[in-house]
Amino acid sequence: MEVIVAKTAGFCFGVERAVDKVYEQIGKTERPIYTYGPIIHNEEVVRDLEEKGVRVIESEEELKALSDGVVVIRSHGVAQAVEEEIQALGLPYVDATCPFVKKIHQLAAESGEQGKVFLLAGDKDHPEVKGILGHCKGENFTVKSNQELVDLLKNHPELRTKPLAFAAQTTFHAGEWEKCLETLKKLCTNAAVFATICNATARRQKEAKTLAQRCDRMIVVGGRDSSNTAKLRDICAEHCETYLIERADELPVFSAGLSVGITAGASTPASIIK
Ligand code: F3S
Repeated sequence: MEVIVAKTAGFCFGVERAVDKVYEQIGKTERPIYTYGPIIHNEEVVRDLEEKGVRVIESEEELKALSDGVVVIRSHGVAQAVEEEIQALGLPYVDATCPFVKKIHQLAAESGEQGKVFLLAGDKDHPEVKGILGHCKGENFTVKSNQELVDLLKNHPELRTKPLAFAAQTTFHAGEWEKCLETLKKLCTNAAVFATICNATARRQKEAKTLAQRCDRMIVVGGRDSSNTAKLRDICAEHCETYLIERADELPVFSAGLSVGITAGASTPASIIK
């Protein structure tokens, strides 16, 4: 049987880096280790870390109550106020913010300093977006779709001529972003655009499609409630018989001679894929 594992299966660079940083700390420090929010949306990894003594803190209140420990900031990043809070507590911390997200923090901070309005395409309730906006001291707005951008420019006509910096959450939908750019081109005269969508997800989906086109069966490994895993399953299912599994013991039995492709969602560790 031919088995082909997608090169882009599983963790993206930023998540892998953040998870590695937590495991590194386990061997390095005697102090309690905390992650600010779950380091990854994968129960097995979070449970494994818990067994090794790593705790998740969910709020600034919990953070303020810490008297000892090392705090790891996850790949989504945090607002500047949270970073300052950790520093004020005098606790050592590891910043595992993905460098691509860090770049948007910088853009947000600079636009405030330069008197520009910072406009972000993204979901205002997402931790990454909250973190980004928490680096912008100037006027800022979030839009989660082109329609919201159109409405914003209608309700705030002054934005059409003001200097704007327009960026996107790293996982923002590429098609919606393109529509937003069209609107901006049509209606605004002074907008600087920063293409900050990360292409890790797009690359994973593209490879899954290519693999599904050449294989007899596809296996997608990932959480049943993970939206990026479900998307991979849908893409593959258009081209061949596809199975979504969470664990190795759910693997179906295939007859000899078939070619089987394997891909995995962004929160699936390499050990589970293997
Ligand atoms: Fe991952 Fe960083 Fe991109 S966390 S999806 S590599 S922005």
